[in-house]
This record gives sequence, structure tokens and C-alpha cells, in this order.
Amino acid sequence: MRTLASFSCALLLCSVSAFGQNGLAAKPPMGWNSWNHFAGHVTDADVRSAADELVSTGMRDAGYVYVNVDDTWQGERDAQGVLHTNSRFPDMKALGDYIHSKGLKFGIYSSPGAKTCGGYAGSLGHEAQDAKMYASWGVDFLKYDLCSFQDNMNQAKAEHPNDPNAAKDLMIAAYRKMGDALKATGRPILYSLCQYGVDQPWKWGPGLGANMWRTTDDIDDSYGRMIAIGFSQAGLSKYAAPGHWNDPDMLEVGNGKMTEDEYKTHMSLWVILAAPLLAGNDLSKMSDSDKSILMNKDAIAIDQDSLGKQGDRLYESGDLDVWTKPLSGGRVAVGLFNRSWSVREVSVDLAAIGFRNGGNVRDVWEQKDMGQRKGVVTETLPKHGAALLIVSK
Ligand code: GAL
Repeated sequence: MRTLASFSCALLLCSVSAFGQNGLAAKPPMGWNSWNHFAGHVTDADVRSAADELVSTGMRDAGYVYVNVDDTWQGERDAQGVLHTNSRFPDMKALGDYIHSKGLKFGIYSSPGAKTCGGYAGSLGHEAQDAKMYASWGVDFLKYDLCSFQDNMNQAKAEHPNDPNAAKDLMIAAYRKMGDALKATGRPILYSLCQYGVDQPWKWGPGLGANMWRTTDDIDDSYGRMIAIGFSQAGLSKYAAPGHWNDPDMLEVGNGKMTEDEYKTHMSLWVILAAPLLAGNDLSKMSDSDKSILMNKDAIAIDQDSLGKQGDRLYESGDLDVWTKPLSGGRVAVGLFNRSWSVREVSVDLAAIGFRNGGNVRDVWEQKDMGQRKGVVTETLPKHGAALLIVSK
């Protein structure tokens, strides 16, 4: 009996780590989120047209299926504690139905604190009630953002000065509470933690059913911020797996403040990182270049590869960086990055990444096969540029 019990336990743990507790996010989630472009002004109409555009641009068919309403949809709670929407979101159930009718999934946003980061009502003290309401609206994804819960953590720290874990324990309990509330609804709802990497969520997130967790503070539409986040992910690859992923924040591709080469660097890094790919641009105003970056099939396939491994840094030399990501079938994706302000050559030795006898090289951004190569492969990259290669036997 003892042997049987521990065997089933081992099986259970195995299934938790392989697929996530709710069976979701076998691959890094893909979709669109309202925040990076619409921020606090988002409306029901904006979200419906984003759903329409996901379909008409081909983004949905490329894999971008979540339509996530970020902060600022909330109104006031009534005497029964039921949270109502504000006037910009007249009917969330109808919005969810609309999104679903397009073959897409519906995401929403809240906070473990009393207030969200935008100062709207959070879920503190109403976790089960809110989770049930989301399920009744047909919600498929919850982003749960720390925000004002940091006040509760500071208070815990002040009340327990000798307990170095007081704030951390309180935060984890709050995230567990909503994770349990989501599970109790019986509806599979993807659980996305947003607490900016405080206290290494990659170590405790999987244990409470998280499918992804932010690893850093917010991204913005600038090359400096984007690479600061992207290149700071070195060393985190071992914490990502099917069911739960490191999240270096949403995409800024198409928001207009980076060059095409910089957006290619952004996308190259994110797919090497097996990051969730949540577009954050105005989908009605995508240039051909935005579309070709966000919908490059090879780049998406690197992110979504069935092996489910996050990539990591191979080496760094001054402003030059080489990252690799193991892919199914013994293939390897290679990201070559030039962070300098001038044209530079960046190389990778195929022997150093498991191809002693050489391999077939495909250039993802050029969309061309470079044929059988052996030894050192060199790319000439513009300032802030990147090359993305797939090497196979
Ligand atoms: C931040 C979060 C952003 C966005 C914003 C909304 O804390 O990191 O992604 O959700 O709050 O207020």
C-alpha cells in the first residue's frame, strides 16, 4: 500500500510539472492584451475590434488566441460585494461571448490588493466571489497584479520585524487563495501572476497553479527597457516547462517607438525565451513590417516548440550576445544580437552547440535556407539588430 501511495503521488507530481495543474499552457500562451496600447482608456468597442482584427489579420490563425482586457474595466462593488463593471464595459458576459464566437479566448485582470495599479477595485476579500463571476462570464485567463497588496506586505513586515519572510508568505498566500478560487470554479482559467518577479515567483509559482509569472517590472516601447528586460532573463531557463512559463512582459512590437531591427530583436529574444507572446499594439494599424515580425511562422514555431524548453545565453562579449534554445528533433534555435550602435559581425560555432559535423541552417528573418554549414557561422548585423537561426542535422 505504501509503495502504491507513493507511486501515485509521484505520478501526480509528474503530471503537475508536465502539464500545469489546470491542464492549460502546454505551450507559452499567445494572444493580445489591451494595456500596452490602450492603457486606462480601453473600451468594450476597442476589445471587440481587437478580436475582429486578430481574425482578419491572420493573427488568430498564427496562434494569438487570448484577448485580454487589462486594468480599468472595473466599477463599484454593491452591498452584496458583487463587483460591477464601469460604463466603458457595459456587459462582460456579452463581450466574452463575442470573443468566443470568433474562436478566441477571453482574459481579464485583477489584483490581490484592495486596489489595482490603476486605482480600481481589486479582489481582496472577494476572491471566491470574483472567480465565480469570471467563470460565469466565460473568462479563460486571469492576470493577477500585485499593486496595492504591496501595502499589506509592508504592514506585515512592520508587524513582524523579526520574520524575514512575513511579506513574502503573505503574498504567496494571497496568490494561492486566488489560484484555489479559480480551481474551485471548475472552469479551466489560465492563471497569470504579475508581481514583477518579487521573491522569485519561478520557484513557488508552479506550486500554486500558476501558468506564467512576470519576471520583471514593466516593459515600455523603448529599446533600452526592452533589452534590459530581455537580457536579464539569463539563468531562468530551468524554471520554465509545459504548463508554466517565465513571463518577461508583453510585446511592444508595432507600438511605433522602436525601429524594425529593434522589434526583430524584441521578437527574437522573446521566442528564444519561450515567453508568452501577448501582442500589445493597435491591431487596426499594423504595418507590413509589424505583421511580418509578429506572424513570422518560424519565429512562432521556435517559441511554441513541443520540447517546451526556454533558451538561455550561450555567451556575451561586450555588446554582442549569442543565445540558444533547444528544439524538438535535435534542432537548435540561435539568436545572434548586436546591442551596439554600429554594424557588427556576430558568430556562433556550430560545433559548440552540438553540430560538430555541421548542420542545415535556416535564417528566420530572411526566410531563407543557408544550406549545410560547418564550423563558425557569421552574420553581419545592423545596430541593435538580431539574426534568428534554426540549425538542424
Ligand atoms: C502594472 C502591470 C502592467 C499593467 C498595469 C495596469 O502593474 O505590470 O502590465 O497591467 O499594472 O495598471
